[in-house]
Amino acid sequence: MDEEEVGEDFNNPRLRELGVDRATMPTAVEARELSRRFGDLTAVDHVSFEVGEGEIFGFLGPNGAGKTTTINMLITLLKPNDGTARVAGYDVVREPDQVRKRIGVVFQDPSSDRELTGYENLWIHGMIYGVPRSELAARIRKLLEFVELWDWRNVLMKRYSGGMIRRLEIARGLLHDPSILFMDEPTIGLDPQTRTKLWEYTIDVRRERGTTIFLTTHYMEEAERLCDRVAIIDHGRILALDKPSNLVKSMGGDVIYVKLLNGSSELLVSKLMERGVLLDHRPAGSTLMLRVFDAPTVMPIIFDIANFLGIKISEVSYRRPTLEDVFLYYTGRSLRDSEADWRETARVRARRGMRR
Ligand SMILES: Nc1ncnc2c1ncn2[C@@H]1O[C@H](COP(=O)(O)OP(=O)(O)OP(=O)(O)O)[C@@H](O)[C@H]1O
Ligand SMILES: [Mg+2]
Repeated sequence: MDEEEVGEDFNNPRLRELGVDRATMPTAVEARELSRRFGDLTAVDHVSFEVGEGEIFGFLGPNGAGKTTTINMLITLLKPNDGTARVAGYDVVREPDQVRKRIGVVFQDPSSDRELTGYENLWIHGMIYGVPRSELAARIRKLLEFVELWDWRNVLMKRYSGGMIRRLEIARGLLHDPSILFMDEPTIGLDPQTRTKLWEYTIDVRRERGTTIFLTTHYMEEAERLCDRVAIIDHGRILALDKPSNLVKSMGGDVIYVKLLNGSSELLVSKLMERGVLLDHRPAGSTLMLRVFDAPTVMPIIFDIANFLGIKISEVSYRRPTLEDVFLYYTGRSLRDSEADWRETARVRARRGMRR
């Protein structure tokens, strides 16, 4: 393992204090060739990864990538067709009860009872999980204070905002003091301020309890700000896995986006290749993504070649790569497309009254 992988910016203060880094960290989640099919569709296709104890690990992927299906296998709600997974050291198929005792879950769609108060929801959850009665009230209070819902404890959940429901579900997920918290799209559909607040809670949970956090998201910023490491997943496969900063570095120099008004992008690409100025390229919807060492040198070459070929360029831009460019490079989908996909799913779900 090289210096980079050991993680120079691995930012878990609690583990740093203990002198622990990723190379020596015990494994909280381990998936080996994990797969799940639904009929002809392979939703999760032989994924393998490890999450270290105390790590915040993210699955970043567009709509339908297989994020929830992976989580459902790890939390023992769904049986894999192939492969194995161990969570907190226990096999998800052979030892599901052991796994369940050690995990907390915040589902993609709220799963609390809207007709009960926040307090009642937590109380019932505590009873189901066997939290000793003598401790339950104190734990509920501590957690409700932590997510700033103590004053709302006796209000029915149907009066809560989306952000408050998420906060309550995080409190519920932590009630039995799990060593691993799974959060499926924890901030989806929330306004930016509430999202930032939830990121703060997530970081606090890890700092105060050392909880390992496995989350899924399709928000770049969430992956970048929260996660020690990120796996980019699409069509059930892990396409890249590393620290966000390393993923960005792996893109090399600059990225250029070119939109053509007419003419063939293939021809333009092949001429640029002949000139030896392209590291790589990808179609990105109606735009072409070009990876180059140095955009300012390549831009005039693009215009020269386009002129020569009679190709008209309608838009061109370049920038230093961000995680969004990495995502687009691997999935071929822009963030905007994937958010639009999600809004469509949310609309359909809302219309059908689906909750889970
Ligand atoms: N119970 C099911 N039966 C049939 N197909 C399913 C089922 N659950 C998921 N799928 C399909 O498996 C694929 C992966 O779905 P999954 O819910 O895991 O994706 P996701 O990454 O969580 O997406 P989203 O961003 O929409 O939450 C999708 O094509 C989905 O339609
Ligand atoms: Mg999902």
